Amino acid sequence: MDKKLQYVKKELLRREIPPVLLVLLLLAVLLLNFLLYMHLNNVSITTGQPDVDSSLCPFGYFRLGSLKNCSPWLSCEAINTEVRKLKCVGEGAVKKVFLSEWKENKVSLSQLANSELKEDFLHGLKMLKALQSKYVVRLLGYCEKQFTVLTQYHPLGSLKSLNEMLDLPRYKGLNTWHRRFMLAIDYVSIIHYLHNSPLGTLVMCDSNDLDKVLSQYLLTSDFHVLVNDLDALPLVNKSAGRLVKCGHRELQGEFVAPEQLWPYGEEVPFEDDLMPPYDEKTDIWKIPDVANFFLGHVEGSDIVRFHLFDIHAACKKKNPAERPSAQMVMDTYRKMLTLLFREAAMPGTREML
Ligand SMILES: Nc1ncnc2c1ncn2[C@@H]1O[C@H](COP(=O)(O)OP(=O)(O)O)[C@@H](O)[C@H]1O
Ligand SMILES: *[C@@H]1O[C@H](CO)[C@@H](O)[C@H](O)[C@H]1NC(C)=O
Ligand SMILES: [Mg+2]
Repeated sequence: MDKKLQYVKKELLRREIPPVLLVLLLLAVLLLNFLLYMHLNNVSITTGQPDVDSSLCPFGYFRLGSLKNCSPWLSCEAINTEVRKLKCVGEGAVKKVFLSEWKENKVSLSQLANSELKEDFLHGLKMLKALQSKYVVRLLGYCEKQFTVLTQYHPLGSLKSLNEMLDLPRYKGLNTWHRRFMLAIDYVSIIHYLHNSPLGTLVMCDSNDLDKVLSQYLLTSDFHVLVNDLDALPLVNKSAGRLVKCGHRELQGEFVAPEQLWPYGEEVPFEDDLMPPYDEKTDIWKIPDVANFFLGHVEGSDIVRFHLFDIHAACKKKNPAERPSAQMVMDTYRKMLTLLFREAAMPGTREML
């Protein structure tokens, strides 16, 4: 900013503007910048905050809206006696999810729906425990022997219904490029968190098409994104040369990354043992498609798309090693939000400063 101010000063001096006016102008510029930064700080809630939310409790405890204290995760016994199932609100390959009630709170009870997928269910629970943070749905309890997990309930449901929600009269005011871009930043921040998690680099594998991706994330009532389904989250360890595969079956289509496709052509039948493994850059490949969904088609979405063109082109590099890290995508998104927001708030200031 000092450089910018020096430049403005020099320019103004060159044009021989009276010193009083100069001082006033500089003050005005400073004030505008100050107000803008204050505003941006309020707006980009997810920017620059530590991973651990202050409303979180120590490991093994949780806090819910109306409750003041941290309670320990509910055990099998507490779940069986204190939780009442109300209705089924979702079903995936692994779990059946019920809106339920616990001490006058709405909670979400997930139960194993396919007994062949016990491993996945337990892996998801393990991840949920280990990754509790502002990016992950809050764990309230679990019962391993009955294959049930209790989490915070989010009435807006998964990201699949984002467009329907934003069309409701009550949320219409939130259907702006700015809000939508902030959701995309939330999403990329979650990918960044998973790629740099306390457990190491985790790949979001349950993501073979856009709808699948969207169904693994929840939309909170204050319009933020949380990751909910952590059942398919293998660990990459580059220093140990350990890569991953998302499942044992052949993947097809353009949504998955090219390195996830069978590389030996149609003449050679698919064989899992011959399929080469890959790393977390498959998540980066998918970011532009998910971001496009978030941006939608409102006034200003296309301008955001235009500004994200280069970073998205980089995400779609065929060679995974050439794709940017989640950190780079996240930084670019945040920079663009600041830039575009400044443009929208004070048209022409970019040229002036
Ligand atoms: N805490 C929750 N609040 C509201 N809806 C939820 C919650 N958890 C899951 N759901 C709904 O249930 C669906 C399936 O949940 P998910 O955990 O992805 O199951 P699966 O492992 O079988 O894919 C989600 O896409 C979402 O619509
Ligand atoms: C990765 O592998 C190395 C070497 O085997 C090991 O020391 C390290 O703990 C592993 N890291 C993670 C995150 O598992
Ligand atoms: Mg799911």
